[in-house]
Amino acid sequence: MKLYHTAASPFVRKVMVLLNEAGATDRVELIPAAVSPLKPDAMPIDSNPLGKIPALETDDGVAIYDSRVITRYLDEVLKAGLYPAAPRLWETLTLEATAEGITEAAVLIRYEFHVRPEGSRSHDWAEGQWHKIDRALTAVETRWMAHLSGQIDMGQIALGCALGYLDFRHSDRDWRSGHPALVAWYDRFAGRPSMLATLPPG
Ligand code: BEZ
Repeated sequence: MKLYHTAASPFVRKVMVLLNEAGATDRVELIPAAVSPLKPDAMPIDSNPLGKIPALETDDGVAIYDSRVITRYLDEVLKAGLYPAAPRLWETLTLEATAEGITEAAVLIRYEFHVRPEGSRSHDWAEGQWHKIDRALTAVETRWMAHLSGQIDMGQIALGCALGYLDFRHSDRDWRSGHPALVAWYDRFAGRPSMLATLPPG
């Protein structure tokens, strides 16, 4: 299998954490890919017309995307067991979707200030994205700690990667404030070998 990859992407990181947890990093060849919407030639558009990464090419030449479809596919192929049976599955998928929303909002803020020209940037819009992130973190803090104390699953991995991205790109904002239980969980989770092996570039 081939995985279009860049180490800074939190979406790619979820896939890499899964591969590490499954002990299957050798099953995938990493193909370096660029992601700027301003440089479509550098994107894997033959595999994903949207040009987004990660994109996975299976051994049969089938293209699979986006990251949530890739993790579902790899979980099944590798028998990783990171998507539990229902009814816990619905919790796992909802936590995964919550983490994905946090990550998407955090990436949009990053793009707003590093891709969009200076005169077109909106601080109010970025603040709106940050409020979305803060609300989601508070929801996790109040409703999801029991789930987080259970066996590792793809919801936990997605959340770990989302929080890692907040540290990576938004260290000037204090996501930890007001979320002590989540901080305690993340401090433990971030120490897993799979998370340490997939840290974004320094
Ligand atoms: C980043 O450098 O922050 C980034 C890279 C790829 C996807 C999303 C974000």
